[in-house]
Parts: sequence; C-alpha cells; structure tokens
Amino acid sequence: MKDAAPQAAAETVYLKDYTPFGWQIADVHLTFRLSPTATRVLARIHFAPNPGAPKQDFFLHGEELRLIRAAIDGTEVTPEITDKGLTCAVPDGPFLWEAEVEIAPEANTALEGLYMSNGMYCTQCEAEGFRKITYYPDRPDVMAIFTVRIESDLPVLLSNGNPGDRGAGFAEWHDPWRKPAYLFALVAGDLVAHPDRFRTRSGKDVDLNIWVRPGDEGKCAFGMEALKKSMRWDEEEYGREYDLDVFNIVAVDDFNMGAMENKGLNIFNSSCVLASPETSTDGNFERIEAIIAHEYFHNWTGNRITCRDWFQLCLKEGLTVFRDQQFTADMRSAPVKRIDDVIMLRARQFPEDQGPLAHPVRPESFQEINNFYTATVYEKGAEVIGMLRTLVGAEAYAKALDLYFDRHDGDAATIEDWLRVFEEATGRDLSQFKRWYSQAGTPRVQVDEDWTDGTYSLTVRQHTPPTPGQPDKAPQVIPLAVGLLGPNGDEVVPTRVLEVTEAEQRFEFTGLGARPVPSLNRGFSAPIVLERETSRAERAFLLAHDTDPFNRWDASRELARDSLFEMITKDAAPDGDWLDGLQRLVADTTLDPAYRALMLSGPSQSELAQMLHTRGVTPDPDAIWSAAERLAQATAERFADMLPALAREASVSAAYAPDAEQSGKRALGSAVLSMQTRLDGGYAAEAQFAAADNMTQQLSALTQLIRADRAKAALAAFYEQWQGDRLVMDKWFGLQVGAAAPARAADIAAELTGHDLFDWKNPNRFRAVLGGLAMNHAGFHRADGAGYRLLADWLIRLDDLNPQTAARMCSAFQTWTRYDADRQDLMRAELQRIADKPNLSRDMGEMVGRILS
Ligand code: PHE
Ligand code: ZN
Repeated sequence: MKDAAPQAAAETVYLKDYTPFGWQIADVHLTFRLSPTATRVLARIHFAPNPGAPKQDFFLHGEELRLIRAAIDGTEVTPEITDKGLTCAVPDGPFLWEAEVEIAPEANTALEGLYMSNGMYCTQCEAEGFRKITYYPDRPDVMAIFTVRIESDLPVLLSNGNPGDRGAGFAEWHDPWRKPAYLFALVAGDLVAHPDRFRTRSGKDVDLNIWVRPGDEGKCAFGMEALKKSMRWDEEEYGREYDLDVFNIVAVDDFNMGAMENKGLNIFNSSCVLASPETSTDGNFERIEAIIAHEYFHNWTGNRITCRDWFQLCLKEGLTVFRDQQFTADMRSAPVKRIDDVIMLRARQFPEDQGPLAHPVRPESFQEINNFYTATVYEKGAEVIGMLRTLVGAEAYAKALDLYFDRHDGDAATIEDWLRVFEEATGRDLSQFKRWYSQAGTPRVQVDEDWTDGTYSLTVRQHTPPTPGQPDKAPQVIPLAVGLLGPNGDEVVPTRVLEVTEAEQRFEFTGLGARPVPSLNRGFSAPIVLERETSRAERAFLLAHDTDPFNRWDASRELARDSLFEMITKDAAPDGDWLDGLQRLVADTTLDPAYRALMLSGPSQSELAQMLHTRGVTPDPDAIWSAAERLAQATAERFADMLPALAREASVSAAYAPDAEQSGKRALGSAVLSMQTRLDGGYAAEAQFAAADNMTQQLSALTQLIRADRAKAALAAFYEQWQGDRLVMDKWFGLQVGAAAPARAADIAAELTGHDLFDWKNPNRFRAVLGGLAMNHAGFHRADGAGYRLLADWLIRLDDLNPQTAARMCSAFQTWTRYDADRQDLMRAELQRIADKPNLSRDMGEMVGRILS
C-alpha cells in the first residue's frame, strides 16, 4: 500500500534502556506447512515468568503475519495486534502459547524471514527476521530449545540441530542447544549434497554437507576442505569442539549478506561458498576459506555464547573476525594477510569512522539494527581484540578465552562480561581500554623524537577528532609497537610495545650508539592515523631496511601517497627515489611474490581523496585519477626491463591450486600484466585472455583489456562462455563498470541496468553494477552528477523491495562533504531526493538522515 503522507520519525532504541524479557521459554515446537503463497507456521511455546525481570505486558514481535488462531493453555484468545507485534493477557504462572500464522515466502523480496530463491525456501533471521515467521520474543537474550517439523514435498528439508524422524512429505529436526531466534534456519528445496565427515578430537563423527542446486556439485570441494580445516583449527587453537551430529551448509543465490551462522545450518550467499578454478579467482578462494571459517567459528563465539542485545554485536562479530583473521594468517602468509586487512580497514572503516556515519564499536542507539553491520563493528571490533591480545600477551589471551568459554557458555553476554574475564585472568584494570568500545573516531597520534646524549626519546600525543554526538574524547590505551633501526639498517631495538595511555607521553631509549630511525606502529598494532613529519629519506630507509614487513610496505605506500600529493597539488613529477627503492624491493627474489605484488599496488583513489581532505585540500576526483594514471605509467616504464624476469618468476607450471604460493605468483603476474599493458597497449593481455584456463588469469587479462580500451571482443567472448553462470556473470557486470574510464562508467552502468541479465532483485547482481559504480571513484564522482543520479535512482527503486541492501549501499555517499561545492550540491540533492521518497524504509531513512546531518 502506498501512502504519500510524511513519514513518522522512526523510533530510536537505546542501550541504556535494556530490560530483560518478562518470561523464559522452556521449548519451542514449530511446524511449517510450506507453500509459496500461503505457508502455515504453527508454534507451540512454553512460557514461564522470568524471575529476574520487571513486570511487563506480554508482548510478542510479529510483522507481516496473518494470524489464523492463537490459544493459551488450549483456550482461544484474541490478542491485540499492531504492525510491530501483539499483546495479550496471560496467566500469572507458566502457560502454553499456541499460534498459527500464514506467510507468503514468494512475496518476500526483502530476503528477511522465510523467502524463496530459485524455487528453494530459505530463511534469514539475523537480526530481526524471525518476527516475520511467527509471533515471538525476537531478541537475542531469549533462548530456547527448538524442535521443528517441516511439511513439504520437496526432497531436502533442513533445519537446525540434529535430524529426527523423516518420511514422505515431512522431516523433523531437534536442536539440543538453547538458542535465540536469530539463529533459527530452515531450508527446503531440490538440492544435492557434497558430503564428507569429520572426526572431532574427542572421537565424535560429524556428518558434513554442502547443499547446492543441481549443477553446482562441482563447486563444493574447496569449501568442504576449508570447513574441515576450520574445525581442526578451532580445536587446536581455541580448544573448541563441534557439538552436533551434523553440520550443514547451504548455498543460496539471493542473499543480502555474505553468510549466516545459524546453528548447525549455515546459509551462504552462493558467491561465498561455491568455487572452482575455472569460475573463481584466487581472491575468491581465499575469501571463501575465510568466510567458511568465520561462520564455523561463530558456533562458539556467537552461538554457544551469544549477545545479550544487538548493541553487543561486536561481542560476536569483532571476536569472530579476529579469529578468522588468525586462521587465514595461519593457513597462508601472515604478513600478507595483515597488509590485506589493513588495506581493507583503511578503505572501509576509516572513512566511516571519520565521517557522518561514525559510531562506536559498541553503538549506544539505533533505529534499524541492520544498519550497524558495519566495518566499525566488524573490522574495528577485531582490531580492538587484537590490541587486547597485544597488551596482555598470547598466553594471558588464551587464559582469558578459556575463562570466557567456561563462564559464559550458554549465556547471552555483554562487552562488560568479555572485559571482566580479561581483568580476572590478568589482574589488569581495563576501564580505560573500554573506551575503544564507547568512543567513535580514529585516534590521531603525533610522534616527535629527540636525540640527546645517547638517549633517544619519543613524545607521543594522541587526540581523537569529534564524531556525531561525541564532541570530546578522552585518551585511549594505544599499544604502539616500536622498533629502532641503526644507521646501517640493523635493528638496534627489537619490537617493543609502548603503552600509550595519556594525551601526551614520553618514552626513552638509552644506551644507543647512534641516532636510530624509528619504525612505529609495527604490524599496525593500533588502528590509528600516525601523524609524523618524516623525510622521504627516512621512509626510503625503512622501505629498504625495516624488518617489520608491514611497516616496510607502509613506508612504500606513504612514499607513493606523498608523491601523488605532490603530483596532484603541484604538478610534480613522480618520485624517482621511491621508484628506485620499489624496484630494488621487487627485484629481491628472496621476498614472497605475494608481498612484492602488494608493493606494486598503489593506494586507491578514494584513499587519496581522504588524504587530500585530511591535508586540507579539496579532492578533485579527475585530478586524482589522472595522477594515479601518470604514476602507474611511470612505474611501468621504470620496470620495463624487469618485466620479462618477473613474468618468468610469476609463471606457474603445476596444475592450478588456489594456495598461498601459487596465488602469490599469480598476483605478481597480474601486476606485471598491468604494467605490460601500459607499455604494449594490450597485446600481452589479449594473449593471456586467450590462453587462460583459470578465472584468475582470465579476469586479470580482461581487466587490463578494459583499461586499455581494447576489450570489445574479449567481453563478448567472456559473455558467450559464461552467460549460464550467475557468479561469473556478476564479475562480467561488475568489472565493466568498476574498471571503466571515469567519463564512461556511469553510462556503462546505466546501459547494463537495461541488460536482459540485469536481475536487480538479486543483491549480488545489483551490487555488481551499482556497487561497481560506487567503487569507480572518479566515475562515480563525475562532475555532471550522472553517477550520483543513477545510484540514487536505483536505491529509491530497490528500497521498496529490499531496504536492507538499499540502505547498505547509501554509504557510497558518506564522504560527500569532502568534495567541492558543486559536487556537494549534487550529492545533497540526491540524498534529499531519497529522503523525500514516499514510504521510505526505516533502514534508508536512518542512513540518509545520518549522512545528511
Ligand atoms: N552474522 C553474519 C556474519 O557475520 C552476518 C549477517 C548479518 C548475515 C545479518 C545476515 C544478516 O557472519
Ligand atoms: Zn559474523
């Protein structure tokens, strides 16, 4: 129903208002009679008063449900129903609640609750989707034992826990572990399994399955190996064993996010689990391995110990991201993983933390919780745990985690609970450290050095700029890992962690023979912006000598950024000294090819825009683009003589394997091809495209051909070859926009939205095109506003169908105040146009409101 009336201001939920639910649930029995248009859900729930809760009316969440009947202790009742849920008079003691509702999964385009994707039924309940399935206290602190019966003629019927009875047209499932409703899941469809088995360290056999649509069986083997590695790793590193007889993973084509950790029944966006060498890049393989691990690790950090309320989201997400990062570091190269993570953090979390959407790792209020599945909660949340581990040490960290699992198993816990186990395990007072959870914004850290009479000192000053609702910040605990290098490049003081706690603090190093060069924030030990006046010579020295691989890379990155700054603001030539240093490093065959490939990838254009803004210069996207192009061209020319040798080093003769070693070589090969293409106009790329037998090389060749404006035939061939594969077609759509020349990106995106295969209701496809546009920095920011307009048009359109995905993509506008007045006007107008849309969702209303405020 459309309604043109002005929107009512959405209600804000506050952490400080937390109150426990008035009842506890002994058990829940659900029966699903599946039908696309009229599924019946029968619920039987035993409620008993919660002695720990204040008196309250009996309220159950429920949205978009048609109540057929409700009964209490067998007697029919007529609850009072609103669009949020129902209230009902209930007995003083325990009682049995029964309800039957009807829902229409086929009409569910928001992909929240029970919905259909390619003829299969599936669910997504986090955060608040269960209320679209039946009336229920849909909050994570209400935990219950679920028994589920599914009635349907479809061959595969799945839910959480262990399988029970099954027969013609039905299957039953019982989950012995108490869980909140957001971990409920159901899947029904014509699916095939890729089966395997895992024996836990205590000798229990677990049946593992990856369920896919027929035809995708060949894309499961890698995910299955990743799952088994994750299970083993969690036993070995965290002492955590799996706790059910089965573990099921299902691949779904229509999914808002990456994947979901439902107890015993993880549901994955098919892009995050299906893989084959022909259709997936090395990057896809690594990401799939990490996401499978992530969801599996949630079984303990999220499911066995869950969150008391959604403000505590980082309790499970920050910790689980930290764990999956550790896992990847163990499976692959630890330094390369760290650099990848920091690139991601700087590209996605820093802009958030330094703009209108800034919020604490543990937010204190929200309108729509779906808007808080952010880089801050996830990635900064993981950084906070990394800092904690650095501060207390690996041993104390392990001890604290054991205590956490012991004490809170079965709980819906809080950040206070989490910090308390560290305080008890270590005797430390973490009250100041806790500011990392409550203060938004990226701390700025200034470091000044002094050298007098053989004593070297560092003066460290910290301040965190204001963020929305937080004008003043107190000093945080910053673990600053520092090493000192002597004039000949030897490490004279190995890495030590300075604990910065004051606004200004001085640290001294004595007994040094000569003035050292500091290597600061090694391994990116704290998620801060380091502000320090350093000479190019000093950075070049670190690039040549630093023993910390992260800082060595970062020194190069800073030199590249400085060079680009000079090129953009003073029309300077590329920094030849930096290119010299880079060349020496890349020529060093003792270094991992993956690491050298990272060295060759320059800062992103949005990172440069951020840097200019921080240095008081209004970023001009076209100027940034052309400077980046000039630098890349200069680099290619400088490396010309080295390319054949590098290409030989990058070549892989063994059969394709997506492991760290081979992917590192191919990453170096892609960097070489990108330089080569700038020299030969696309000749080598065409050859690679024609010869490629894996997606990594096929796609890297296609990327270069697009950049060289020579991709017409390749794009057509690629389309011919892959039009039947949805995941590969997402790449085809995304790359044409993402790699397009800035002047054309918006037009190409607009044209692709008219393509037959542009299924805009599929989040992956929508994101490929419109997200691809947002990622093409100069293309999105085209001076005439075409990029802004196209994105806004589509977000407005998507809002009616899928508010969650639409709202997430609003963040493309979060940096709007960085740019010049004309662009600001254009972006403000588009944001206002979104804000004025009739029936704007709460999701989008909140995002646009925050971005504009
Ligand atoms: N909890 C999921 C994860 O991080 C993410 C998710 C959130 C998925 C909300 C769907 C909906 O693993
Ligand atoms: Zn997660």
